[in-house]
Amino acid sequence: MDSVKILSLVAMISVSVISRADELNRSPLALSALQGTVCLTANHIGRSISLVDVASGKVLQELVVGNGPADIAWVDESTAIVSLLHDDAIAVVARDKDRLDLVRTIPVGDEPRGLALSHDRKSVYVALGGDDTIAQVDLASSSVVAKLPTAGIPKTVRISPDGRMLVTSTAVPATIYVHDLESRQLISERRLFDGAFNPGVPVISKDSKLLVIPHAVNREFAVTPQMIDIGWVIDNRISKLPLPDGEPSSQKQLGLDIRGKAVGDAYAALFTSDESRLVVSCGGTHELLVIDFTSIPWPTGDPGDFLPAAMQKDASKFRRIKVGGRPMGMRLLDDQTVVVANYLLNCLQVVDLNSGDITKTISLGGPEEPDLARQGEIVFYDADRSMHSWFSCHTCHTEGHTAGQVFDTRNDRSFGTPKLTPSLRGVAETGPWTWHGWQTDLHDAMKRSLTESMATKHPITDEDATAMVAYLKTLAHPVNPRATSTDTVLNQKQELGRTLFSGKAGCASCHNGSQFTSNETFDGKVEDRKDRDSKYNPPSLRGVASRRRYLHTGKARSLEAVLTKYHRPEDLVGESLTDEERDALIEYLKSL
Ligand code: HEC
Ligand code: HEC
Repeated sequence: MDSVKILSLVAMISVSVISRADELNRSPLALSALQGTVCLTANHIGRSISLVDVASGKVLQELVVGNGPADIAWVDESTAIVSLLHDDAIAVVARDKDRLDLVRTIPVGDEPRGLALSHDRKSVYVALGGDDTIAQVDLASSSVVAKLPTAGIPKTVRISPDGRMLVTSTAVPATIYVHDLESRQLISERRLFDGAFNPGVPVISKDSKLLVIPHAVNREFAVTPQMIDIGWVIDNRISKLPLPDGEPSSQKQLGLDIRGKAVGDAYAALFTSDESRLVVSCGGTHELLVIDFTSIPWPTGDPGDFLPAAMQKDASKFRRIKVGGRPMGMRLLDDQTVVVANYLLNCLQVVDLNSGDITKTISLGGPEEPDLARQGEIVFYDADRSMHSWFSCHTCHTEGHTAGQVFDTRNDRSFGTPKLTPSLRGVAETGPWTWHGWQTDLHDAMKRSLTESMATKHPITDEDATAMVAYLKTLAHPVNPRATSTDTVLNQKQELGRTLFSGKAGCASCHNGSQFTSNETFDGKVEDRKDRDSKYNPPSLRGVASRRRYLHTGKARSLEAVLTKYHRPEDLVGESLTDEERDALIEYLKSL
């Protein structure tokens, strides 16, 4: 039996055990509500979905569906669809009153995340983060019938209420794509403002004319207490864009932060039914924002550093409701009540928007006490660990990966030498750490990240650092479909690339071992006169295709750019490659 088969067997066995055990954190990311009060949650870590009757506060059933449930949608009262981020598939689930059954899973492509159901309920659109496309899955034939190209890690898809537009948000760079569903043509492609990153879950107005999306903004100043205080490091904002298109000037942003008490990791947006109020969940500061949407003084041009003063002191215009944990997806129950999926608290919360009370907490199950890794995860997502709560580890290292942003965290003790945020997948195995490889102890690195990258005075204990390391050890590379491709042409290319990598191109002299890195430092010949040390620790090349910016400067935006412009084999080992060889080498890199 080959190793792939053994692995999938192990996965099957563990799934059936998990369906009975209660020890997994459920960590719901999203929920979908039917008319009335029946909800389904996508339990990201729990590998399951839960059918919940919010009125009675009961979990009616839980069903194990696969790895990494990320989004969920009802097709009708008896069918639901779940995206399985780590299985590269969607699951079709049947519901009969209180009972759920897994009908089938449909392979859809790399890293499926956001879902949207077509108005005729015949197909579902799936954002494929690893493929930079939106797959259209026909539910009758259970097959992918079309792929609409985007770029840059699509995360969410929405269909406008008029049923005519497919609206996609992508992460790197943060962009909104609008496709006409009838003609399948791309109607518009708009970048959110400069520096926008970590786009959250958007909402579209009922008349289909407006999109509102929360996101972070990289202000590009050094991470110092002075800069954080005045809001010049990472801001949290909502953007409003006319649909389907519009002049850049019609695109507006609103800063959400308050000096000394910012908002961390704004995630999902939701309108109340009359669209007078906008609710925003903020995972990092453990709260919901309730914003009077009708009276926002939308700034023209630059939104400034903070929430407009007129909104700061008036709770009817801007209210903050603490819910704890990590509030993520939300649904409206009625005009003053929302249900929130709380990832870190493993529960659904019912929140009264008028009183600010949590009127009900419905546990989805999970361990009584967080284990060490979960304790680390709690710190990882906690913006209150940063000065004035502007950001968390997750803000820069999104979900343990990377937001693809360049920051001047001054790790090498210099100013004005910003560096690309490394992915933390597999990080425990790739020491020494930081681009210059100056950090040889991960435990110490945690203390530095907590005190310096977060600029906090919050006391850091050894227990915190130990828990963080335990959490980092859980950050694995997702399954890479290119590594097990059955396409012969592709496989031949990969094979040629492998030969070049360890032969003529000389890559393996610096990128070696199981993680394709080294514990030494080298001059990667990347030109940047500002940096104070020309030596760098080679980044691990495992999962390299899942990054969209490369090298310490972040200037290379594709593997091709790395090898032709910034980190050229001719400069490194004195060998130049033909176009065909480079192409093969890149296919090999993508399979790692
Ligand atoms: C403001 C953005 C930002 C925040 C917040 C942040 N990091 Fe980083 N992190 C970076 C950047 C940029 C680097 C690269 C720094 C360098 O090499 O000079 C980095 C490097 C690292 C590394 C080394 C990775 C490697 O492969 O060498 C680890 C580990 C790490 N961060 C963990 C954390 C943890 C844990 C937190 C929260 C306590 C955190 N970071 C907060 C931006 C950030
Ligand atoms: C002399 C050692 C050395 C050799 C030879 C070398 N690399 Fe590198 N590689 C590095 C270093 C150091 C970096 C980081 C450089 C920087 O960012 O300044 C790097 C960065 C990279 C990156 C960017 C990864 C990321 O996540 O940003 C890629 C891709 C890469 N190398 C691929 C290759 C390939 C393919 C070859 C063979 C053609 C190769 N390297 C040869 C040392 C080397």
